[in-house]
Amino acid sequence: MPIEVADPLPRAAESSAPLGYPMGWFWVADARELKPGTVRRSRLMDGDVVVYRTRSGLVRAVRPYCPHLGAHLGAGGTVAGENLVCPFHHFEFAPDGRCVDSPDGATIPVGLNHYELREQHGQVFVWQGPEGQSPTWELPEVADFGVAPIFGWSREIPTHAQELAENAADFRHLSVLHDVHMAEAEPCEADGPIFRVHTRSTGQGRVGLFESRQTIVMAGLGYTHIRFAIPRLGVVAHMWAMQTPIAPWRTHVYSVFAWESTGGAVSRVLAPVVARLASQAMTKVLSEDIPIWENKRYNPHPRLVAGESTLSRFRLWTRQFYPSE
Ligand code: FES
Ligand SMILES: [Fe+2]
Repeated sequence: MPIEVADPLPRAAESSAPLGYPMGWFWVADARELKPGTVRRSRLMDGDVVVYRTRSGLVRAVRPYCPHLGAHLGAGGTVAGENLVCPFHHFEFAPDGRCVDSPDGATIPVGLNHYELREQHGQVFVWQGPEGQSPTWELPEVADFGVAPIFGWSREIPTHAQELAENAADFRHLSVLHDVHMAEAEPCEADGPIFRVHTRSTGQGRVGLFESRQTIVMAGLGYTHIRFAIPRLGVVAHMWAMQTPIAPWRTHVYSVFAWESTGGAVSRVLAPVVARLASQAMTKVLSEDIPIWENKRYNPHPRLVAGESTLSRFRLWTRQFYPSE
């Protein structure tokens, strides 16, 4: 199901890396694939995160190198009961990080370093911020959402997470590049780490003209939720795009979709179809954006024109995620 698209050559933008790594919550695993006893090695910025689930179901995310002799816990590490076992000398680490056992019972007084972690909508996120800083905000709950996400895809894209997120604030390119015609329904809102964009579009289907409404909620630069509603059909599709920086100018995107029906039997049949179509549309849109991202460079001083105030508000909003710059 997940699709990996490899980029064979580093691009010019990668070497200059004009934007640093942002702080915030970043996706590291799909909780549904993290069965009890699973150890997963995920990439985050310049290093790895080891994510595992104990036999009783606890999820933990730790820095990758064993404090004993430095083996990578995600390269052959295993779970024994509630403990993570290092592949090199089988020292065992409890869910609180303490070294609690080894084959001859010896332990070391140094434990594993944990990431702050949240499980939300079946996805696992870790906090990335200044050294030693606890999370300063939380991911939003999706209030009206009662169905688990069901399918997804993943891609690596040679660009920065901010450039990806900026797409949702850049209306001018939608009609030109994607043939998508959306208008802003209400002014955007920048609310602390949350940025909301409200759009609407009109489409022509077998049932005639119908209006759809989209609410895009970004929480930092690693999380985007799009609520796509077609009131006339009683259908709501949800899409999450989770952007994880994995190198200075490279981002892993994991996306899941779900739906709700807010009407009768017809809407219950239509809702999964709309979610599936939304997923296909997103794949198409991304494949159209990729050649632009691959070759563009980040412009810190864009020459914006009338009708692009959402873009400039987005740029202002992003500054909070680079506290040291
Ligand atoms: S390096 Fe991990 S147990 Fe020795
Ligand atoms: Fe786009």
